[in-house]
Amino acid sequence: MEEFVKQFPAGFVWGAATASYQVEGAWNEDGKGENVWDHFSHQPYHIANGENGDVACDHYHRMKEDVELMSWLGLNSYRFSISWARVLPQGVGKVNEKGLDFYDRLVDALLDQGIAPNATLHHWDFPQALSEQGGWANRDMTDWFVEYAEVMFRRLGDRVSYWATHNEPKVVAMAGYLDGAFPPGRASVNEALLATHHLNLAHGKAVQAYRAGAYSGKIGIVLDIQNFEPATDSEADVLAAQRMSELNTNLFLDPILLGKYPAYILDWLGDQVPQLPQDDMPVIAAPIDFLGMNYYFTAKVEHSTNGLLKSHSENFSADGWGFTKFGWGIDPQGMAKGLHLLRDKYGNLPVMVTENGTPAQDAPDADGFVNDMARIRYLREHIAVVGDCIRSGCNVQGYYIWSLMDNFEWTSGYTPRFGIIRVEPGTLKRVPKRSAHWYRNVIAENKVCL
Ligand code: NOJ
Repeated sequence: MEEFVKQFPAGFVWGAATASYQVEGAWNEDGKGENVWDHFSHQPYHIANGENGDVACDHYHRMKEDVELMSWLGLNSYRFSISWARVLPQGVGKVNEKGLDFYDRLVDALLDQGIAPNATLHHWDFPQALSEQGGWANRDMTDWFVEYAEVMFRRLGDRVSYWATHNEPKVVAMAGYLDGAFPPGRASVNEALLATHHLNLAHGKAVQAYRAGAYSGKIGIVLDIQNFEPATDSEADVLAAQRMSELNTNLFLDPILLGKYPAYILDWLGDQVPQLPQDDMPVIAAPIDFLGMNYYFTAKVEHSTNGLLKSHSENFSADGWGFTKFGWGIDPQGMAKGLHLLRDKYGNLPVMVTENGTPAQDAPDADGFVNDMARIRYLREHIAVVGDCIRSGCNVQGYYIWSLMDNFEWTSGYTPRFGIIRVEPGTLKRVPKRSAHWYRNVIAENKVCL
């Protein structure tokens, strides 16, 4: 049966991920400032069922118990994010020591269990005070971000193994400033393009600040690389898919790894593209140690006469796979396409799959146990693809499940449940699902069996 076993290389990093606003709660405790998600979710009609992250999983108070669960799972690494407004309530200036202490205790608790900390500085919840000064559309944000990053590097730089500047900056730029579905809820092509550039520049400046401190860990960025395929081989659909890919992926990947914005998309956007100082490009392309890749789905794209991109995408599922509860098309090979792209066109730098997972069917039985076979199937097939990609020369060094536990799924609230650990509504009791038991075994044996 050897051909059905995918053995992973020694030292492969097995992890699970969360993000501050999605799990911490304690939204106004111990001196924390308001962030854009606090502000947005406290206004009517923004979040499904009027939910918010005020309490979330209460991880802020249950951190010790959560780290014990990570230890039980056997995780080699835990990916979390830091709430900027918990550390700097106004975004800049006075540091909130109690907020900083929380992350200090988290990192020490992880290290006590032999779990390598993987910290993201910005996973969408930036301070409201800075948003009110234009947020990412304001170039000053790049320096404010560096001020915050340096506070974190100084405090945790001796103990954090992996840093990511941003998580999926595309979502901040496009959902936050182009279609307005996420905070700050702006709808402006100009602001979205400025936000794109400033997110990229802030990333590069933070990488330079990290290098200047000569810390011992590694630094990179987390981008979402979904798979966009043309619906047919007509020229119109092929071009539509290209626009979709370039706007979603290359607008970030190319400046960071190749030092330039993609010519095709600049051409397409024409005079909507703001004038940008050329000196910014080498800063944005400051060498990184690894790229974090989040992968969830494949979408098929067809030409449309409507909308900025003149493209329309439909989720596509590979034969026999179906869709996640989000309607995302399940397609494990779509992840291979992204990993091959990084191998072949972007220098094969070290890659961590920093998120992969699914909101599967999750109804608990009478004992509160979730027998999530559909999630196991999703994870197993995607992990197997990672193994195949490593064998075909992709430089993949780690894999993190999204998510360690059920949590606040942004504007969809608590209904989609991505965790391998169930968080019981109301009591917030943690109950490992069947997938958690399964993943524990994968980690212990360093292999996945099909
Ligand atoms: C990507 C985001 O980084 C994460 O916050 C989100 O919960 C997952 N995708 C699932 O949608």
